[in-house]
Amino acid sequence: MNCFSLFLFLSTISTFFITSTSTSTISATQNITDAGGKTIVSDDDNFVLGFFSPTNASTNRYLGIWYNKIQIRTVVWVANRETPIPDTSGVFLLDNRGILMIVNRSNSMIWSSNSSIPGSNNRVAELLGTGNLVIRNVNDIDPENYVWQSFDYPGDTFLPNMKFGIDFRKGLEKYLTAWKSVDDPSPGEYTNRFDPDGYPQILLRKGSDLQYNSGPWNGLRFSGMPNLQTNDIYTFRFEYNDDELYYTYELVNSSIVSRMILNPEGRIERFIWIERRLEWSLYVTAQMDNCDRYGLCGVYGICNIAESRACECLRGFEPQSADEWRRTDWSNGCVRKVELNCEGGGDGFVKLSGVKLPDTRKTRFNRTMNLRECEAECLKNCNCTAYANLDVRSGGSGCLLWFDNLVDIRVYSENGQDIYLRMAASELHRDAKAKRRVRIIVIPVLVTVAVILVICLFVFRWRKQKIKGVNSVVREHNFANEKESKDWELPLFNFNTIADATNNFSDEFKLGEGGYGPVYKGRLEEGKEIAVKRHSIKSNQGLDEFQNEVQCIAKLQHRNLVKLLGCCIEEGERMLIYEYMPNKSLNSFIFDEGKRRSLDWSKRYNIIIGIARGLLYLHQDSRLRIIHRDLKASNILLDKEMNPRISDFGLARGLEGNDTKANTKRVMGTYGYMAPEYAIDGIYSTKSDVFSFGVLVLEIVSGKKNRGFRHAGHDLNLLGHAWRLYKNGKHLELIDDTMKGAYVESEVRRAIHIALLCVQKYPEDRPDMPLVVLMLGSEIPLPEPIQPGFYTDRRRPQEAESSSSNYLEWSSSNRLTVSYLQPR
Ligand SMILES: *[C@@H]1O[C@H](CO)[C@@H](O)[C@H](O)[C@H]1NC(C)=O
Ligand SMILES: *[C@@H]1O[C@H](CO)[C@@H](O)[C@H](O)[C@H]1NC(C)=O
Ligand SMILES: *[C@@H]1O[C@H](CO)[C@@H](O)[C@H](O)[C@H]1NC(C)=O
Ligand SMILES: *[C@@H]1O[C@H](CO)[C@@H](O)[C@H](O)[C@H]1NC(C)=O
Ligand SMILES: *[C@@H]1O[C@H](CO)[C@@H](O)[C@H](O)[C@H]1NC(C)=O
Ligand SMILES: *[C@@H]1O[C@H](CO)[C@@H](O)[C@H](O)[C@H]1NC(C)=O
Ligand SMILES: *[C@@H]1O[C@H](CO)[C@@H](O)[C@H](O)[C@H]1NC(C)=O
Repeated sequence: MNCFSLFLFLSTISTFFITSTSTSTISATQNITDAGGKTIVSDDDNFVLGFFSPTNASTNRYLGIWYNKIQIRTVVWVANRETPIPDTSGVFLLDNRGILMIVNRSNSMIWSSNSSIPGSNNRVAELLGTGNLVIRNVNDIDPENYVWQSFDYPGDTFLPNMKFGIDFRKGLEKYLTAWKSVDDPSPGEYTNRFDPDGYPQILLRKGSDLQYNSGPWNGLRFSGMPNLQTNDIYTFRFEYNDDELYYTYELVNSSIVSRMILNPEGRIERFIWIERRLEWSLYVTAQMDNCDRYGLCGVYGICNIAESRACECLRGFEPQSADEWRRTDWSNGCVRKVELNCEGGGDGFVKLSGVKLPDTRKTRFNRTMNLRECEAECLKNCNCTAYANLDVRSGGSGCLLWFDNLVDIRVYSENGQDIYLRMAASELHRDAKAKRRVRIIVIPVLVTVAVILVICLFVFRWRKQKIKGVNSVVREHNFANEKESKDWELPLFNFNTIADATNNFSDEFKLGEGGYGPVYKGRLEEGKEIAVKRHSIKSNQGLDEFQNEVQCIAKLQHRNLVKLLGCCIEEGERMLIYEYMPNKSLNSFIFDEGKRRSLDWSKRYNIIIGIARGLLYLHQDSRLRIIHRDLKASNILLDKEMNPRISDFGLARGLEGNDTKANTKRVMGTYGYMAPEYAIDGIYSTKSDVFSFGVLVLEIVSGKKNRGFRHAGHDLNLLGHAWRLYKNGKHLELIDDTMKGAYVESEVRRAIHIALLCVQKYPEDRPDMPLVVLMLGSEIPLPEPIQPGFYTDRRRPQEAESSSSNYLEWSSSNRLTVSYLQPR
């Protein structure tokens, strides 16, 4: 036997060996049958291909790809979406022309890959580690030469390394189509795809109706996705040239699994697999709130979610129909107050900052022009309505010109962009004049105001007690307005019903005394148990909180938020009716010598995660972004199964925009839980809630109150104590004595570490809630925390604050109110 035939022999054996053990490929002689239950698994074990039914209820069989290592079957691609096989007779095979197909019992073709590109008939199909099913020539692994690949025909899932967009050379468009429902993978109504007209943007449609617009790529992100930021989980990229247009992302570390889908309800969601809890956690959704509804405010309208009426006309514009506008029908948009005068050469531009750029389907762009050239170009063409930088990186470059009415503009509190709107000269003039006038007026006014303020300060301190109720009385008046209560869409309870349920508010039914009045337990006639929060009529302050709570929580639904069943406004009474929580508040457990023993570590950990989820929902997933502002142990209620429910929305506020400033007037919250920037400057944000969450976690772990914490060795508060232990590597000393010896050390360490990240002094250093939830549930590496806010000797800050102690006022619930002077 010569060398050559030995080599042949060996290579035949090895090929035989490989093909018989490897399960990632299927060649022309092989097939997989549904009845046989065989599957193909990618080489790295990440994905599997086989037949499946979407749910137990359905007997329809589909051929699809799903994650191999993830316990919940999560299908990422389906071949025969529209042609299910009613029984298990399906066979998946590669025919000898190199076409993948599914045939049924009678050998009729159910589905096939359109891969009849002539050429070598020596082809193989392989399931790659990326979840891509490809057909290639046996010896050619170059991705450029794939004969066919499933990544070119995505369903509802956008996987890492997939190119979402258009391949102009091959005339291939890769876009997402939602499933009809969770148990029907056939194409539903929603599609999400790049629109190559003008400068490209991704448009989400329901049928032909536009629902959402990503906005154009601005070098860093899509203009309408301010949340798309550099992160530890994935990197992303946008490419647009003559050959192709696409958006893609890659996982930073393949040990964290993430996918993006267009769900059957038309929402674009990114999930991350949390191995520890065996579930997909929602990381971010593209559509954040109402303002993301395409063109909500019509042409030349601008949406601001922080306003109670979201839509306004751009400056220099007025509603097309004032009547419709008043009725919150904004669809017809706005018109110019003064027509453009292009031929007269009198037009100019006004700058609008911090916004999402309008629909770019009727735009032209030039990558090299600067802003001045861009303006000149726009001025030259009478049809040009606006211009902006194409790329916002390094000071801005490129030019984007609009040639249509502007639609789908909204305000962002961060990561918004600048756009320059064409205006008639007279409108510009008006602005300039106004500015001059302002300058002449402003300075004297400021001086006067300052003087008045100083005077007020004295008067105010002196008369504080008497003035207290004025604002509330004014609001009470509004509140009595019937229409307003209808807006809440809440069931109204009859006073007598509630009186009956609580045995006429008898003391034995009293659960406790809240900040603004007593809380009673009740039982409705049908047996349902309720909790009734009765706002004391004497407490003027309570009025505000009552309204606020109703408005805030009426529309919220989450398993970690307490559920408001209705309210009662009768006979001068204001009551909120909640579902009853038999286990009362967290407070009554963790700080109670006896009861805290019943809270073992797994229960506590579960509570921490539940609170984090509830907060995440408030911050991100609910229709309005809500900041709770008074998160504390006594506001966490526990249901029968000891699941936490966040309650008491009396101080909660909607987020974004100017709102922050407007509410600096009255800082309210609870000492010991308030973030430094909030307690001191009245600045609140999602990050101030994160701070309170961090405090809460430390309290849950230690069973000690932050406020009133005592330690023999030093004078630090609980945060300082935890920080010091952490620094010395002695985290575990923090843990509640009653749990000693019975906890998962890694979880405790992680919880403390995350809590310390949450209570860092500067809000920008603290993680946001999506990240907190992710960190709690996964093994991703945690950054080092820096020293917490309020890490000081407990006595000193109080001394420092004593000069302003007149502003501090304690209510019966230990709730602190800091009132600042109102400039008016
Ligand atoms: C599938 O393969 C088996 C054996 O490898 C063969 O008997 C059967 O005919 C094949 N089925 C089809 C539909 O090609
Ligand atoms: C579906 O069937 C599997 C296996 O029989 C079972 O474990 C699972 O609980 C079922 N799911 C539902 C929703 O019925
Ligand atoms: C196989 O599919 C064809 C075409 O869809 C259909 O007409 C035929 O009835 C199917 N055969 C069986 C046995 O299901
Ligand atoms: C497959 O190819 C046929 C014929 O070329 C074409 O009519 C059909 O639309 C193609 N299907 C897909 C899904 O591309
Ligand atoms: C990926 O994450 C795992 C687990 O957290 C870690 O062990 C590994 O070092 C990480 N790999 C890289 C390249 O960062
Ligand atoms: C972009 O603008 C530059 C400078 O005005 C010009 O030279 C170039 O031709 C323009 N490019 C395109 C594609 O219009
Ligand atoms: C402006 O638009 C009108 C109507 O769409 C068109 O007839 C005209 O040619 C355009 N003018 C320029 C300068 O593009």
